[in-house]
Amino acid sequence: MRLRRWIAAGAAAAATLAALTVTPATAGRPYDPTAQSLRDLAKRHGLYLGTAVDTAALADAADPRYRELAGSEFSTVTAENEMKWESLEPTRGTYNWAPADQLVAFATAHHQRVRGHVLVWHNQLPAWLTAGVADGSIGTTELRQILRDHITAVVTHFKGRIWQWDVVNEAVSDPWDTPATLHYKGFWAEHLGPGYVADAFRWARAADPKALLFYNDYNIEAFGSGNPANDKTQFVYEMARDLRAQGVPIDGIGSQGHLGTQYGNFDTFGVSEALKKFAGLGLATAFTEVDVRSQLTEGVRAGDSAEINPRLQASAANFSVLMRACLSSPHCLSFTLWGFTDKHSWVPGWFTDPPEGVATVYDENYRPKLAYQELKADLIYSGPPFVLPRVPQQPRR
Ligand code: XIL
Repeated sequence: MRLRRWIAAGAAAAATLAALTVTPATAGRPYDPTAQSLRDLAKRHGLYLGTAVDTAALADAADPRYRELAGSEFSTVTAENEMKWESLEPTRGTYNWAPADQLVAFATAHHQRVRGHVLVWHNQLPAWLTAGVADGSIGTTELRQILRDHITAVVTHFKGRIWQWDVVNEAVSDPWDTPATLHYKGFWAEHLGPGYVADAFRWARAADPKALLFYNDYNIEAFGSGNPANDKTQFVYEMARDLRAQGVPIDGIGSQGHLGTQYGNFDTFGVSEALKKFAGLGLATAFTEVDVRSQLTEGVRAGDSAEINPRLQASAANFSVLMRACLSSPHCLSFTLWGFTDKHSWVPGWFTDPPEGVATVYDENYRPKLAYQELKADLIYSGPPFVLPRVPQQPRR
C-alpha cells in the first residue's frame, strides 16, 4: 500500500514536471498560462517574483483586493518601510518589532520568502541618532558601536526568516552630486568613512550565516562609460570586486530598477550584460524595487489617450527590459516590484515637481495594465536554450 502510494506520488510528480515542460492540461481543460499568477509562472524559471508591501494597505479591511493580490501574485515580499531604522527603533533602546513581524507572518502564511530591507541607509534614520551625532553627544566610536548593535539586533531578531538582506543601501553618490566624481556619500560615510560597508556585511553575516547579503542601489542597471569616476555601475562593480577580494561576505547586488519613461533608459542586452558581469564576481543579482514612473502632464491628468498610451507602452517596455535581462542571467534570483498598484505607490508622494505617477503594473482600481501583461508574456514565452533555470546562491564566506 505504502509502495503503491509512493509510486502514485512519483507518477504525479513526473506528470507535473512533464506538464510544466510540455503542454500542461488540467482535467481535460486546456492549460491557459495567461490565467496563472506571476508567481507561478516565475516559479517555472526558479525565479521569485516579489513586491514591496505597504503594511497599512495590507491591514485595511476596506481594501481586501490589496491583501488578496499581495498574497496570490507574489512569492517574495519586502517591507516598504517597517524594517527601516526609524520604524524599528524610534526610541533609543526600544525596538518595535510588531509591524515587521506581522509582514513576516503574512509571508509565511502565503509561502513567500522575505527580502529584508534595510540595515544601513542614510535615510529614514531615527531622530535620536541623527540629532545625537549633530549635537556631538554621540561620537565616532559610539556611533560605530551603535551601528554594530543595530545590525546584530535586527538580523538576530529575524534570523532564519530572511532570504536576502539589503545590508547597505545607496552608499554611492550620483553624477549630479557635489563633487561630481563618484564617491561614498551620506551620513555613514561622512561619520565613519567608507570602511563601514565592509563592517556592516561582516556584522550581518555573524548574526545570520544563512541569509544572503546584498548591496542595493539605483542607477546601476547598465554600465556607462566604464570609468568609475562617473559610471555608477562601474563604481559599484569595483566596490563589490574589492569587497570580495578582501573576503567580505557579500552575496549579491540588488539593482533597484526605479525607471522613468521620460529617460532614455536601457535595452535588454545592456542590462543583461551588467547582470552577467556581477555574476562573474560570484555574486547573485536581483531587481529589488522595480517601478517605471511617468510625468502626469495636463493631458495625462485630463485622460487624453494620446498622452497616456505612449507612457503606458513605454512603461511596459521598461518592465519587460528588466525582466528579460533577469531571465537571461541564471544568477538573477528575484524580481521585486516597488508596490504593485497605482493606488499604493510611493511615486506620486515623492516626485511632485513635475508630478509623476502611474508607475506600477495595476491601475488604481486593480486592473492589470499593459506592463502586467508584458511581464506575464515574458515569463510564459521564454525558456531554453537561452533562458535557463536560476542557480540558487549559497552564502559566500
Ligand atoms: C521609500 C518608500 O516607498 C516610501 O514609502 C518612503 O516614504 C520613502 O522610502 N529606495 C529605497 C526605498 O531603497 O527604501 C525607498 O522607499 C524608495 C527608494
